[in-house]
Amino acid sequence: MRLDGKVVLVTGAAGGIGRAICRRLADEGAALALLDVGEAVDSLAVELAGQGTRAAAARADVASSAQVQQAVAALSAALGPIDGLVNNAGLTSIIAPLLRMDDEQWARDLGVNLTGPFNTIRAVLPGMVQRGWGRIVNISSMAARAGLWRQAGYSASKAGLLGLTRNVALEHAADGITCNAVLPGLIETPAVAKLPPPVMDHAMSLTPARRTGRTDEVAALVAFLLSDEAGYLNGAEIDIDGGSHLCPVVLGSVREVQARRDYRHAPHAG
Ligand SMILES: NC(=O)c1ccc[n+]([C@@H]2O[C@H](COP(=O)([O-])OP(=O)(O)OC[C@H]3O[C@@H](n4cnc5c(N)ncnc54)[C@H](O)[C@@H]3O)[C@@H](O)[C@H]2O)c1
Repeated sequence: MRLDGKVVLVTGAAGGIGRAICRRLADEGAALALLDVGEAVDSLAVELAGQGTRAAAARADVASSAQVQQAVAALSAALGPIDGLVNNAGLTSIIAPLLRMDDEQWARDLGVNLTGPFNTIRAVLPGMVQRGWGRIVNISSMAARAGLWRQAGYSASKAGLLGLTRNVALEHAADGITCNAVLPGLIETPAVAKLPPPVMDHAMSLTPARRTGRTDEVAALVAFLLSDEAGYLNGAEIDIDGGSHLCPVVLGSVREVQARRDYRHAPHAG
């Protein structure tokens, strides 16, 4: 199996995409160091261990460097040194126009989505450098490219994460370490499934694939980036969004505009 013998730390492990990543990595033979701020991470560790995976859980807020250092020390003591890191924990503290965002909300978005990965990377990088091998995958978002209405803090933090990705890759490629970013579009998680039908319908009309992504599709990409096979892929930004980053503004094709209108009125829409 591709990840046999590797220990991978996944943050936000108990969330929609995090769980799918953990299950896929377990299938590929990895031992899993699970980190999440919520208590559901404990039962996930029990579930994975019950299926024969070496797994340990720690509850920590990634925005706190002290909590991250402590969690990484405990997880490494339980499973061994961390070979791979998936920075998946993320949130939007408010969905509102930029001018209604307060200092605390802005700081929280940046603290979790950008300082969080900085904290985890600082905690695991020295060991990776020492062993001459490491894989880091940062889960950014399509919001990093085009922005996202009413989510200024989220968009800015996810764009900042691309800058952090590039620097880790630049500074540590020669140490056998890769650091890549994954930019998901709308992925079918419990939160996304609750979007109001008109919002989902509009989003799908702007998604060339005309569907949401599946969590297992993101997990498969992450597993590849963590593998030995992906050793020459570094500092990359990989969109996994059904083509949404292509910004398909339609000018000139009446047929395609009609197809979109038909889609919007079709019974399956939403
Ligand atoms: N679902 C999508 O459509 C989508 C699209 C683009 C990007 N993403 C990104 O993918 C990642 C996972 O998203 P998801 O949809 O699975 O979200 P989710 O809310 O289901 O899961 C996020 C997980 O992160 C944990 N978390 C939140 N704040 C934390 C903190 N401070 N410290 C530690 N853990 C914390 C939560 O407890 C939760 O388990 C996020 O970074 C998100 O921005 C998701």
